[in-house]
Amino acid sequence: MMKNDIAIYPGSFDPITLGHLDIIHRASKLFTKLIVVVMVNPKKQCSFSPAERVELIKKCTDDLLNVEVEFSDGLLADYAKEKGACAIIKGLRALSDFEYEFQMALTNSKLNPDVETLFLTTRAENMYLSSSMVRQIASMGGDISGFVPDIIHKQIINRLKG
Ligand code: PNS
Repeated sequence: MMKNDIAIYPGSFDPITLGHLDIIHRASKLFTKLIVVVMVNPKKQCSFSPAERVELIKKCTDDLLNVEVEFSDGLLADYAKEKGACAIIKGLRALSDFEYEFQMALTNSKLNPDVETLFLTTRAENMYLSSSMVRQIASMGGDISGFVPDIIHKQIINRLKG
């Protein structure tokens, strides 16, 4: 049992994919409350606005009663402190994710020693999935139905088609 029961799952979610949604489902079973937080990654130029990204995630997580969705333009370590979270959840796909995620986890634990970063490994069928691939395929008229939740599929296509 965890020391307390709030976890946060941060990311760009530009847009949310089936891989993200799988992590949300699994993490929501481990904690009393899971806050999915759309954050700013200074290395990324996003296609969807923060409000759009939050709305898309909310649509896909409507059935999960212990999941909240928010936006924050601050530091993840500060956000975790403000929410009293004991854990930051991250999804790991391949070895290529590891170095970047490890660096962020160490930095965040230096900034906020009260929060642990926990990694959930992705399910095998989502290993290759990424928001940037989804954006690229949709903007070139390709089929993204196997990559994003059904309920937001059309909205993403309409928004990204060239
Ligand atoms: O989905 P992403 O783009 O890999 O998520 C990265 C994200 C948004 C979680 C990261 O960029 C972040 O934590 N941004 C908030 C600002 C911050 O705390 N930066 C220091 C990270 S060590």
